[in-house]
Order: sequence, then C-alpha cells, then structure tokens
Amino acid sequence: MKKGTVLVSGGAGYIGTHTAVELVAAGYGVVIVDNLANSEACAVEGVRRITGIEVPFEQVDACDGQALRGVFEKYGFVSAIHFAAFKAVGESVADPLKYYRNNLTSFMNLCALMHEFGRSDVVFSSSATVYGQAGVLPVTERSPRLPATSPYGNTKQMAEDILRDCCAAYACMRGIALRYFNPIGAHPSTLIGELPRGVPQNLVPYITQTAAGIRPCLSIFGNDYPTPDGTCLRDYIDVVDLARAHVAAVDRMTQGRMEASYEVFNIGTGRPVSVLELVEGFERANGVEVPRKFAPRRAGDVPAVWADTRLAARALGWQAVRPLEETLRTAWAWEKRIRGIK
Ligand code: NAD
Ligand code: WQD
Repeated sequence: MKKGTVLVSGGAGYIGTHTAVELVAAGYGVVIVDNLANSEACAVEGVRRITGIEVPFEQVDACDGQALRGVFEKYGFVSAIHFAAFKAVGESVADPLKYYRNNLTSFMNLCALMHEFGRSDVVFSSSATVYGQAGVLPVTERSPRLPATSPYGNTKQMAEDILRDCCAAYACMRGIALRYFNPIGAHPSTLIGELPRGVPQNLVPYITQTAAGIRPCLSIFGNDYPTPDGTCLRDYIDVVDLARAHVAAVDRMTQGRMEASYEVFNIGTGRPVSVLELVEGFERANGVEVPRKFAPRRAGDVPAVWADTRLAARALGWQAVRPLEETLRTAWAWEKRIRGIK
C-alpha cells in the first residue's frame, strides 16, 4: 500500500539516491528535488532503473524559495528529507559564505514551506562531525557537540538548532536529525553510487580510484595517532544501511511514534575501524592492490570517533547489518562499472 509521498531534496546525490530507492521499496512515493550542483541526472535514471518506477525529478535549487514553492504546489508530501547541501570541509573553510548560504538557505526554505503547507515531518542529514573529538567513546546522542572546526560542520550544528527551534515553536512540526558517521559503498546493482568530482577527499573513493589506477598512490594521513595501529579510527556505515535508517525515521514520524517533537539519532555501526584496516580489508575483499604510503596528519582530522548505536536500535528499530567486506566489494564494483573496468 502506498504510504504517501516524501520530498527528497538533494535526492540525486550519493545518499539521496540510495534513500529514494529504499523509500520506494518501503511503499513511499518519492519526489526528487536537486539542482545537480554535485550530481548528474543519470543518478536519477539509476534510481528509476532499480525501482522500476518513473520517480519524479524536479531540477530546482532549494535556495530558490519560489521554485521550491512550485514543487510544494505540484505535489502533496507527508514528509521531507533534506540532503541538499555542499559537503567539502576544506572548501567550506576557503569559502564559508558559499556554505552558509547554500546549506542554511535551502534548509530554511524547506522548513518554511513544510510549515506553510502544514506538512509536519522533516528529516535532516546531520553528521558525526558535530561531536568533534569526543572525550568519551563511543559517542552517544547526549555527548556534547563541540565547537565546529569548519563552516561546513557549523552548518550542521546550526541546521540542527534551526530544526529543534522550529519543532519547539510550530505545533505541527516534527524533526529528526540523523548524525551519519562515515557513509561508504554503493548499491549492489552498481546502478548508483558515489560520484566525487575532482580529487576525492574521502577515504573510500580515494582507495577505489587508486585501485583503478586513476591515482598513483593512497596517502594514509598520519600513523602516529594514539590508536592501536597509529591510524585514525572511524565508523564506516554502508550507504544502503544508512538509506534504510531514513525509512525508519520517516516511519517513526508518520506512525506517530516520536517521543518528542525533535529527536536525534546516531547512524553508524558502532564498530571502530582504522584506516589501515579499511585499506587491507578492501584489498582482501576484492583481490586488488592499493599502493599506499604514510603521509603527515591531515589538518582537522580527529584521531577517533565511532557511534553508540543503542538509541537508534531501540527507537528506530534500525541497525546496520551489512558486513564491511560486502560493502567494500560494492565500492569496488561501482568504481569498476563507472570506469568500464572488467
Ligand atoms: P552529495 O553531494 O552526493 O548530495 C547532495 C546533493 O544535494 C547533490 O546532488 C547536490 O547537487 C544537491 N544540492 C546541493 N545544494 C543544493 C540546492 N541548493 N538545491 C538543490 N540541490 C542541492 O552528498 P551526499 O554525500 O549524498 O550527502 C548528503 C547529505 O548528507 C549532505 O547534507 C551531507 O552534508 C550529509 N552528510 C554526508 C556525509 C558523507 O560523508 N557523504 C556524512 C555526513 C553527512
Ligand atoms: C576518513 C579517514 C583520514 C583520505 C569527513 C568529513 C565529515 C563527514 C564525513 C560530512 C581519516 C583518512 C582520508 C585519504 C586518508 N562528512 N584518509 N587518506 O574525515 O572522517 O569525515 O567525511 O559530514 O564531516 O570531515 O572522512 O573519508 O575524509 O577520512 O588517510 O586520502 O581516512 O585522515 O582518518 P572523515 P574521510
């Protein structure tokens, strides 16, 4: 049975496409809104091929309030998931206004229209970056948010606060912020995945491009951290598991199961994995070599962060299930497909 239609802003992007697929599989209608600032229209085609449904796509900049209003006038939504944002940490330091303008204006436009149209439920893509280097690991949702170290990270904290305040003020409004840890991998169909532009900033796309011969050598940033093997520890979450967390969040809202008008959940595996373990795991899972060297620490990196996932398991009935090895296989299968490697 059709459960109602979800607005997916930024839905042509990496996490948005995977989420659109899982929403359709769960019985929701989906409308993708994206200005293709960091994605390609073929990603929407991938969603359509996987789902077998002509998922509607509106090429709209969510910062353009009038254009976004047109989307609200055309469709009726039960809820919205807001992925639309710029996400390059370094670029945000170099050009903070670009990030504050895009990430916050788009989100405020969406919240204002949800409120105006009497649609109450908003899921926001937040990030583990809000925790900075936590003193106690794993981090729970009650761990303090530390002052952001980049404008990008600051937009996540500010948008969380905007959503919290709207939910406190507007009787009709409910919000869930999902704090993602490190999303990796691709859809097993290899029809959708991550499409980084230029030199990848994130570890897994750098690994896959190195394995593909596009980059000569992976630099492992820092091997003198106070961790078991000296490299940083992160919580790598399969993008399909992550996508399903959004379905669980939308279900919780639409089924009236929220315990407060604004809730926050960590979305990770709860398992720390070092950079070295990840690279070696990738090689083992795929039978390929990743040339690598140790390099100095990267500015702004925290030594270790991983999630306490108990709240998400209890409240959302969600947990990550995909084995890391399988996720790393999908990452390589995707890279091979887009490069035409056999
Ligand atoms: P992505 O760049 O692949 O997807 C974001 C999409 O939003 C892109 O398709 C882009 O074209 C679109 N977009 C940007 N600004 C827009 C605007 N003004 N109007 C309409 N569309 C716009 O990124 P992603 O990895 O899929 O990330 C999705 C969300 O999750 C972002 O908010 C990001 O900050 C957040 N997040 C990502 C990660 C990660 O590591 N990928 C981790 C934590 C949080
Ligand atoms: C992971 C580990 C690097 C590349 C970033 C953002 C964060 C969030 C997710 C959105 C680190 C190491 C990386 C490389 C390496 N995004 N590394 N060589 O830094 O945990 O988080 O993406 O919210 O805000 O900061 O992820 O994939 O960049 O790095 O050694 O070429 O891999 O030093 O230890 P990070 P990442």
